[in-house]
Amino acid sequence: MNILGVETSCDETSAAVVSDGVEILSNVVSSQIDLHRPYGGVVPELASRRHLELIQPVIREAIELSGCAFTELDAVAATYGPGLASSLLIGLNVAKGIAFRLGKPFLAINHLEAHLYSPLLVSRRFDMLPMISLIVSGGHTILALVTEVGRHQVLGQTLDDAAGEAFDKVAKLLGLRYPGGPEVDRLARQGDRAAIAFPRAMLDDAGYNFSFSGLKTSVLYYLKKHPNANVADVCASFQEAVVDVLVAKTIRAAREKAVRAVSASGGVSINSRFREGLAAECQRHNLPLYLAPASLCTDNAAMIAAVAFHKFLGGARSDWNLDVAPSIGLPPSDSTPG
Ligand code: KG4
Ligand code: ZN
Repeated sequence: MNILGVETSCDETSAAVVSDGVEILSNVVSSQIDLHRPYGGVVPELASRRHLELIQPVIREAIELSGCAFTELDAVAATYGPGLASSLLIGLNVAKGIAFRLGKPFLAINHLEAHLYSPLLVSRRFDMLPMISLIVSGGHTILALVTEVGRHQVLGQTLDDAAGEAFDKVAKLLGLRYPGGPEVDRLARQGDRAAIAFPRAMLDDAGYNFSFSGLKTSVLYYLKKHPNANVADVCASFQEAVVDVLVAKTIRAAREKAVRAVSASGGVSINSRFREGLAAECQRHNLPLYLAPASLCTDNAAMIAAVAFHKFLGGARSDWNLDVAPSIGLPPSDSTPG
């Protein structure tokens, strides 16, 4: 079964064709990073205009690369939230239009739910559920327990900034270019992780929530007090503080919930120190770890088409009148809007 997925929730225009929920026939991602870089963040108005220009060529390329004709598609899926309203509208409406024209079902997909399952798209280890799945991106930090495909429970999330947002804001304080996460990751390799004792917020808290805004403020005060601070040391020490909390909470959740495996997705899950730290702790606790390749960690349409396959099999179909849901969170379990 071939599903065309479309993703335009933020600053990536993406289309993919995925067969049977696991075989990626194509996954075209056109990033707008260069467009937004001069502004130090995503400018919604510019993002939606660029989506409008790119959506048709990106879909056409995804179809061509997949080797499938439009008529060989069995369904069309698109992200309906969360994300930027004006960006979501482009992908959702184009996808609806294609599905309607082809006379095929249309499925609206929650972007966070797609992130949750993206590591399984590669590992295909659906037998390793229940699993603790961490979503760490520029907009979200969510720790979830996935009990079966389509069934999950949010254990905790950030109470303020997302982990990626903290990386981006700290990078800005250090005068690094946008997006800051990859820059901090690169510079941290030359720094001393123990140079500065930044706070690990909520590390000893009994729950699974996170908080990163205090850490960002600590970096700000440190830089005010030490204007000539070694940038690599600041990057390494800040990154270590974020990674310590993410890894500790993920492992504690995995042990307390007695799951079979751990997975992580979202842009921050590409971070080299995060991968190293999480892998070491998972190994120490005998927990198999599933991480998606970088191309599937950041925003992409393959994860949208993949999750749509499981929903399609479960009988889910969305209504043509369905609208975007920019502020929707991760619903407790399977909830494709009708
Ligand atoms: O998942 P993503 O592409 O988009 C969202 O849905 O937000 O994540 C983007 C975020 C940005 O904050 C970026 O700085 C961060 O992921 N990021 C990283 C790394 N690569 C991307 N953060 C830390 N280390 C990295 N290597
Ligand atoms: Zn995302």
